[in-house]
Amino acid sequence: MNYKKLIPRLDLERLPAHVGIIMDGNGRWAARKRRPRMYGHRAGARSVRQMVELGVELKLGYITFYAFSTENWGRPEEEVQGLLKLLKEFLAKEIAELNRQNIRVNIIGSESRLDPAYLAEIREMASPTFGNTGLTVNMAFNYGGRLEIVEGIQKLFAESRDKPELIEKLSPQAFSNYLYTAGQPDPDLIIRTSGESRISNFLLWQMAYAEIYITQTLWPDFDKAAFIEALIDFQSRERRYGGVESQ
Ligand code: FPP
Repeated sequence: MNYKKLIPRLDLERLPAHVGIIMDGNGRWAARKRRPRMYGHRAGARSVRQMVELGVELKLGYITFYAFSTENWGRPEEEVQGLLKLLKEFLAKEIAELNRQNIRVNIIGSESRLDPAYLAEIREMASPTFGNTGLTVNMAFNYGGRLEIVEGIQKLFAESRDKPELIEKLSPQAFSNYLYTAGQPDPDLIIRTSGESRISNFLLWQMAYAEIYITQTLWPDFDKAAFIEALIDFQSRERRYGGVESQ
């Protein structure tokens, strides 16, 4: 299906400010083709590119991709190394074009367990885009929602040694500024591919009021039309934030 045909069904004034995507199903996609799992992840990186292109076309503000979770260290070493390498290859290949499109690439996640040299390298690769003002692409890499909250608490405690009022006057809104997504709107929509109905430690704090969209489509098959279908579904939801209809 040509995705352009679906765009008129979208209300461009009511798009989500921030979309979070749990990209699942790369392994199954590869297995169906009798190929190694990394073949699926590489195809998954092409879907990331498609989503970013559509994000720019629709003028979305923020997309967060769950590329590597803190639990993913438990995968076979070859796959872990393959995923680390894939992020670097993706940045090497795409960053010039992303920069040209005024996209800001933000790598979010914990620094723990990652080789500092690797971390410095991927940050350096993304750095030309840091001043950009268009779409923000968060690559959640070595990301875990619980760890993000714990690291936020540690940052807050460190700052509060000189400023105890930070703790006394702490509000949920103020705490958001200690997370990796500080200053960003919360996701309105979370998409998960490949049919699993789990949150898997993704954006736990931020997704308090997010709409969740689950599709059977495996991530490498998730294309621009599929993304628009998710946005159309999102626009059919009635969001009440704990209030009542039409408040
Ligand atoms: C889950 O599929 C996917 C991941 C753990 C990795 C996600 C990574 C990508 C889509 C590519 C990363 C892109 C960049 C740009 C770094 P799975 O392997 O759990 O699939 P399965 O459930 O079918 O086995």
